[in-house]
Amino acid sequence: MEQSEMKENAGKAAVDALVRNGMKVGLGTGSTAITAVRYIGLLMEQGKLKDISAVTTSLQTEMECEKWGIPTYSLNSRQISGSLDITIDGADQIDDHHFCVKGGGGALLLEKIVAYSSAIFALVIDETKLVEHLGLTFPVAIEVVPEARVFVCKALDRLHGEGIVRFAVRKAGPVITEHGNIILDTLFRQPIYPAVMEEEINHIPGVVENGLFAKKGPHVFVARSNGTVEVRD
Ligand code: 5RP
Repeated sequence: MEQSEMKENAGKAAVDALVRNGMKVGLGTGSTAITAVRYIGLLMEQGKLKDISAVTTSLQTEMECEKWGIPTYSLNSRQISGSLDITIDGADQIDDHHFCVKGGGGALLLEKIVAYSSAIFALVIDETKLVEHLGLTFPVAIEVVPEARVFVCKALDRLHGEGIVRFAVRKAGPVITEHGNIILDTLFRQPIYPAVMEEEINHIPGVVENGLFAKKGPHVFVARSNGTVEVRD
């Protein structure tokens, strides 16, 4: 089975299991999360899902909602009022404790705000994303105020990490986030404790947010190459 089919299976399984009429839904970013967005759009078009209010985490997701007619709101709007029923998002890697690394698409700041303001956090992944240790093979994205770049790199070194500025493709210079910051992709030289490291990185002045998600126990939908989807709560 192609990886793209697995992603679609995971997205659909999460929507079928958890999204109900009238819900306020946070929508993540990336090729897996977008399958859930499209499926919600399809169910709404077919009249099988009603009164969904969405909060998006990137322009990519917002444009997909526009395409499907899914109404979107700011998290601050009266309609949403700062709290969501559920967020569905992808991840770059997940360990056995369901801690995960996100931010491969650079949308980690809004993704974390939306995830942590949701009653239910659902992660949709294919089986290639399961790992034993986070931070060793896929970098932890860290959003940093540009002026603090060198200072933060030195602080990360003391945490056994090496931060590398993420550069743009088809544009000279760094990736600039929706909030005007740069991203330091950081690999660690030794295994980390995600819950501790999430806190430690965020204590460095100049760090806006990091892509370790260890404080919100997710429901994980793992799509397997044999066509099944395993649900881990
Ligand atoms: C974006 C993310 C994505 O969810 C993560 O990168 C996974 O993407 P994909 O589903 O395309 O593999 O965190 O910031």
